[in-house]
Amino acid sequence: MATVASPSSKVARPQIRQTQCFIGGKWVPAASGKTFDTIHPATEEVIAQVAEGDKEDIDAAVDAARAQFDGGEWSRMDARERGRLMYKLADLIEAEADELAAIETLDNGKPIKDAKAADIPLVIQCLRYYAGWADKIQGATIPVDGEVFCYTRREPVGVVGQIIPWNFPALMVAWKWGPALAAGCTIVMKPAEQTPLSCLRMARLAQKAGIPDGVINVVPGYGPTAGAALVEHPGVDKIAFTGEGATAKIIQRAAADTVKRLTFELGGKSPNIIFDDADMELAIDGSHSGLFFNQGQCCCAGSRLYVQSKAYDSVVERLVKLSEDRKVGDPFDPDTEQGPQVDQAQFDKILKYVDFGKADGANLATGGARCGSQGYFVEPTVFTDVQDDMRIAREEIFGPVLSVLKFDDVDEIAKRANDTDFGLAAAVWTRDISKAHRLAAKLRAGTVWVNCYNQFDSAAPFGGFKASGIGRELGEEGLAAYTENKTVTVKLG
Ligand code: NAI
Ligand code: MG
Repeated sequence: MATVASPSSKVARPQIRQTQCFIGGKWVPAASGKTFDTIHPATEEVIAQVAEGDKEDIDAAVDAARAQFDGGEWSRMDARERGRLMYKLADLIEAEADELAAIETLDNGKPIKDAKAADIPLVIQCLRYYAGWADKIQGATIPVDGEVFCYTRREPVGVVGQIIPWNFPALMVAWKWGPALAAGCTIVMKPAEQTPLSCLRMARLAQKAGIPDGVINVVPGYGPTAGAALVEHPGVDKIAFTGEGATAKIIQRAAADTVKRLTFELGGKSPNIIFDDADMELAIDGSHSGLFFNQGQCCCAGSRLYVQSKAYDSVVERLVKLSEDRKVGDPFDPDTEQGPQVDQAQFDKILKYVDFGKADGANLATGGARCGSQGYFVEPTVFTDVQDDMRIAREEIFGPVLSVLKFDDVDEIAKRANDTDFGLAAAVWTRDISKAHRLAAKLRAGTVWVNCYNQFDSAAPFGGFKASGIGRELGEEGLAAYTENKTVTVKLG
């Protein structure tokens, strides 16, 4: 059974040096002088007091970003030079990778093993990927009628407001800064109130890399204050948001007054489908980590696991065993596989869904309770005999709670998998490659994984159908979302 080791410090704790707002290249306290606590979720101890930005700080940050954009130092810099500075930032992050990973573990509670093996390497990959794009953003010549020369220019969209969540704090910074910087945009970022520290450290490294002051501005603070001020600001051209659907609706309404460009990456209830003919070793391991990775706090978590009827009993048995063997505990212990949830609110939400699962008649096969007495630890939990209409099969839990459902054939499963408001990801496990491709085409989801899960690459677009989002991040499409396409038409002679 999962137990919580007493939180120890087997890895050196990082130095926290940046806790203020970063505006126009300067570290400044919030105009109000207010701060908020950021905590270590494994022990609930306060790590640091961070400047609590609000409207006044957002105004100053947008002014700095606007002046930098309109002045053209960054937006009109030789594109290759922009790319060089981005590579430099990636190099500086690589040089401090262990320290940044430790900051992630301290602020978010994720296992140090994951921060080192996944989060920080993906941050570096993403920045390098978009650094390479900086001098490859091209327009087209268009064959219009008459003696007319027509061409397009891909120009930066302007000042972008970026609002990010706490589940992958540093990686969300890279996903947002990478394409914005390559395109020549300037940035005001509001990190999540739970996890501001890695973003602030990355801003420090950006300055060290030589990215000009005012290109990247960071205002820590809360959503309804600092976040809302950013969304409403007339000097901001675009908002890129990752988080909850309910927040996205507030942002979409507020952004309407200034007709801002919007990209959203929201939640999911992703179907993960194991057929009888799958490589079961692969499918079971992949489905376990596809849900439990990052404490289940993934927008694309495979939280609806459909198992074909013949394999159902043996798959369930092995999944329960994997969950019970999962090592839960001090996230700084290099062997830990599961740390605490990020905060009390997420912890409470997860246990509420455990109650819903029981009340709706699902079978609680393992877990379902708090782990230990300190920190926001939840036992790896598996519900079996889940029905499609239960709340644990329809709503995003965002925690280590797997819902297992049974299905019989391929026609039935496509329909059931798509019977959701969400459409972020899906996965299919089978040795029948034709069946996999046919199903991949039918699934209404932005990403379909076949015989794998959570396979991410900066070059591959990621985003949601339906209520899971608007637009795509990563890849060429992610870059396009930070550009305006300008048509220039010249009458000749
Ligand atoms: P949230 O959507 O409230 O927070 C995400 C970001 O939006 C934070 O930076 C927050 O300060 C900001 N924000 C909140 N209200 C705002 C407003 N009115 N205007 C502008 N910005 C605002 O998500 P929260 O409360 O942290 O988590 C709630 C649930 O959302 C989770 O349980 C999970 O289901 C889902 N979620 C999904 C994520 C994803 O990756 N798609 C990430 C985080 C949460
Ligand atoms: Mg919220």
